[in-house]
Amino acid sequence: MKLLPILSLVAAAAALPATNDIAPRASMSKVDGLKFNIDGVTKYYAGTNSYWMPFLTNDNDVDVIMGHLQTAGHKILRVWGFNDVKTVPGSGTVYFQSFSGSSATINTGANGLQRLDAVVKAAEKHGIKLIINFVNNWTDYGGMAAYYSACGVSSNAQWYAAAKCQTMYQAYIKAVISRYRTSTAVFAWELANEPRCNGCQTSVLTNWIRQTSDYIRSLDSDHMIAIGDEGFGLTGDGSYPYQSGEGLDFAANLALPNVSFGTFHLYPSSWGTTNAWGNGWITAHAKICAQLNKPCLFEEYGVATDHCTVESDWQKTSLAAKDSGMAADLFWQLGDTVKSTGQQTSNDGNTIYYGTSDWTCLVDNHVKAIG
Ligand SMILES: *[C@@H]1O[C@H](CO)[C@@H](O)[C@H](O)[C@H]1NC(C)=O
Ligand SMILES: *[C@@H]1O[C@H](CO)[C@@H](O)[C@H](O)[C@H]1NC(C)=O
Repeated sequence: MKLLPILSLVAAAAALPATNDIAPRASMSKVDGLKFNIDGVTKYYAGTNSYWMPFLTNDNDVDVIMGHLQTAGHKILRVWGFNDVKTVPGSGTVYFQSFSGSSATINTGANGLQRLDAVVKAAEKHGIKLIINFVNNWTDYGGMAAYYSACGVSSNAQWYAAAKCQTMYQAYIKAVISRYRTSTAVFAWELANEPRCNGCQTSVLTNWIRQTSDYIRSLDSDHMIAIGDEGFGLTGDGSYPYQSGEGLDFAANLALPNVSFGTFHLYPSSWGTTNAWGNGWITAHAKICAQLNKPCLFEEYGVATDHCTVESDWQKTSLAAKDSGMAADLFWQLGDTVKSTGQQTSNDGNTIYYGTSDWTCLVDNHVKAIG
């Protein structure tokens, strides 16, 4: 999802008390046939996205919200593991990497990766498994465009293939992975949010995905690796998302040996399709995942109105395909109230807030249906 920059919560960073309250049988999440195995249990899983959670500045706020996910029975949470800036902000604002001249600097300080540390720590405590994403295609929270002048390119298409950009990107990946290399709270590492290369040969992205997934595997032999793409470029009705104009070939990318599972998103209102069209989009991906014997994660989906009716229909379609390729779904996106400030988290119109009737519909009822 392409976002508007929204959240700027400033609060004192308070250290969590030391805890031994780690899920007792926590283990590395892994692929088990066409499904995921989480802490020893292989089944279909539900979860959500919260790009903003690593940008909260109070550890207890993170812990409270993670606790709500645990209570609800959600297991997988996708977060932004990037926050790239071209100008270093004031000390209360979170950022993870800055660019200046021709160099990149990773911020490991209290307003830097220590904020992601708090998310991982809270996830460990509450048995939540994180998908941690390394860079954005879009300019929200910097994105590939934040690297441009430092690594000497002027487009995403150039960024994927430029050695200097890739060296910086890989250094960032290494810095993040080294912090959580042994954590059982990491579900998967993810290359980028919605990587696209408009008008490019699909080999540009396939080569970049191969290079990056191999690099991640060289650093970490345990955690899963995913792309984070929208799932474009596959056989179907020929409408825009099925085409490869954004430089993606779903099956070719999923077939890469160090890619663990498939990802795809669903935004009919941005793509000029109907909501009902989404059901065929889900099963088309499941079919390819089954053919390639890797699970499919329905990683982002959202609408601006009628959340319950439209999205529960997609959830049912995905769950019905649980033995034929679909392994989990994560709606876009989680909403909650930040305890220390009383403020609601970012509302982009697609947000499902904890405790609302939409939450009952899309979280409680869905978790019950999964069983
Ligand atoms: C994301 O990718 C698409 C396709 O290449 C491109 O049109 C769009 O501008 C990209 N976003 C940015 C910020 O470059
Ligand atoms: C996966 O990545 C590792 C580490 O870079 C590499 O040695 C291996 O060849 C890759 N797997 C395949 C089958 O290409």
